Amino acid sequence: MNEAAKKVFIKSYGCQMNVYDAERMADMLEGEAYKEVSSAEEADLIILNTCHIREKAAEKVYSEIGRLKQLKAKRQKEGKQTLLTVAGCVAQAEGAEILRRAPAVDIVVGPQSYHHLPDMLKSAASARKKPVDTDFPTIDKFAALPEPHEQKIQDRGPTAFLTIQEGCDKFCTFCVVPYTRGAEYSRPLKEVLKEADRLLENGVKEVTVLGQNVNAYHGEDEKGDTVSLADLLRTLAAKGTPRLRYTTSHPRDMDEDLINLHGELPVMMPYLHLPVQSGSDRILEAMNRQHKASHYYQIIEKVRKACPHIALSSDFIVGFPGETDQDFKDTMKLIENIDFAQSFSFKYSPRPGTPASSSTDQVPEELKSERLAQLQDLLEKQRLKFNQATVGQTVSVLVERRGKETGIMSGRSPYLQTVQIETSLSRIGDIIDVRIKRASANTLYGEDVTNTR
Ligand code: SAH
Ligand code: SF4
Ligand code: F3S
Repeated sequence: MNEAAKKVFIKSYGCQMNVYDAERMADMLEGEAYKEVSSAEEADLIILNTCHIREKAAEKVYSEIGRLKQLKAKRQKEGKQTLLTVAGCVAQAEGAEILRRAPAVDIVVGPQSYHHLPDMLKSAASARKKPVDTDFPTIDKFAALPEPHEQKIQDRGPTAFLTIQEGCDKFCTFCVVPYTRGAEYSRPLKEVLKEADRLLENGVKEVTVLGQNVNAYHGEDEKGDTVSLADLLRTLAAKGTPRLRYTTSHPRDMDEDLINLHGELPVMMPYLHLPVQSGSDRILEAMNRQHKASHYYQIIEKVRKACPHIALSSDFIVGFPGETDQDFKDTMKLIENIDFAQSFSFKYSPRPGTPASSSTDQVPEELKSERLAQLQDLLEKQRLKFNQATVGQTVSVLVERRGKETGIMSGRSPYLQTVQIETSLSRIGDIIDVRIKRASANTLYGEDVTNTR
C-alpha cells in the first residue's frame, strides 16, 4: 500500500456479528486501497456499524453523527473530503430516513449489502449521490466478499469470530433482529471451513462461530446433506482448532448432540451462553419464546451432566409489557436456582414495528429500573462467587495481549474470564497454565506455572 492510500475508520456497536461484519468491511476496503486507522480524525471514510436492538443503542448513532458532522466540516475547510457511512442494523431499519434526519451522512448500507460498498463509495465520491442499499441478497454477500486479509487476521490476534449463520425466523415479540437481519440463513460448510483454514493458518487459536441463532445452523455439505452445528464443531475440532466457542444459542434449538459435545470434545470451551429472557411462563409465552422455564431447566441439567464445570450465561429482559411482581419473582427464582457465571440484562425497550411495542400494558420506567437493579445485584453476586471459586485452581489461559505493566499479560480462561497473568516467558497466542491467586467481579489474577516449555 502506498503513502497516498485513503484511510478508513470503522466504529462498531452491538453484537459480535457486527464486529465480524466490521472486520469483513475492513478486509474488503483494504483491496480498495483503504488503510484501516484507529481514529475518526484522520479518516477519509468513517463507517458507523450500528445496532438497533434497544432505543439507547440506536440513539447513540445520532449523537455520534452530530459530533462527526463538525469533524467533517473542519476537514472540508482543509480541502479534505470525508465520507460518512451508516452501516448495520440502524441503516437497515431506518434506510433513507437517516439521510433526512442527518444530512451529514453520505451512504446508508444494511448488513446484507455491505459488499456493495466499493461501488457506493465511488458514486458518493464523484457523482454527489447519496446511495442507500438495504436489500437482502444474503447469498451474494458472503460469496462476493473477499477472503479475510491475512495480515489483518494476524494483527487481530489469536481469537477470531466466524459468522456461520445469519438472520432469524423466531420473531420474539420484543426483537428487531428478524427485521434488520432478515430470514435465517446458514452458510455452506465448504465456505465456513475455507474461512476457518485461513484463520488457523494465520495464527488464530480460538474460533467463535457466530449466528443470531447459531444452534439453528443447518448448512449444506458438498453432497447436499444437511450439517448441524455439532457436526460443524466436530469438523473444526478435527482440523486441530485449539479452542472452540459458539454464540448465541436459542433454547429451542439446543439438541442432545450439541449438549453432549461439551463432554465429548476437549477443545469445546466449557461455556454456554443460552439466553432465557424470563423465568415466567406467562411472559415467555407473550414473548413468543416458544419454550417454558421447565424446558430451560431441563437443558441446563443435561448440559451440567455432560460437562459439570461448565460456565453458564444468559440474557434477561425486565419490564416486558404485562410483567407482574410475581413474573419478576419467577425470573429471580430461576437465577437463584441456576447460578450463572455471567449474564447480560436489560430493561425492556419498545422497538418500532415489533408486536410488544404496541401493547397497552407497558411497565413504568421506574419499576423497570428497580427490577433491573435487583436482578443485576443478584447476577453480580453470582459472578463474583463463580470467579472466586477459581482461586487456587490452575486454569489454561490463551494469552491475547500485553498487560499495562511489564511482566503482565492478559488472556482468557476457558470460562471466558479475563485473566491478568504474571509471566516472563509467554507470548501472545500461547496457551499457558495459570494458577489463580485472586479474583474480582471482572478479572482473575494469577501467575504462569506452565512447566512444559
Ligand atoms: N438471538 C438471541 C438474542 C439476540 S439480541 C436470543 O434469541 O436470545 C441480544 C439480547 O438483547 C436478547 O437476548 C435480549 O435479552 C436483548 N433484547 C433484544 N430486544 C430487546 C428489547 N426490545 N428490549 C430490551 N432488550 C432486548
Ligand atoms: Fe431476536 Fe428472538 Fe431471534 Fe433471538 S431468537 S434474534 S431474541 S427474534
Ligand atoms: Fe444489534 Fe443488529 Fe446485533 S440490532 S444486536 S447489531 S444483530
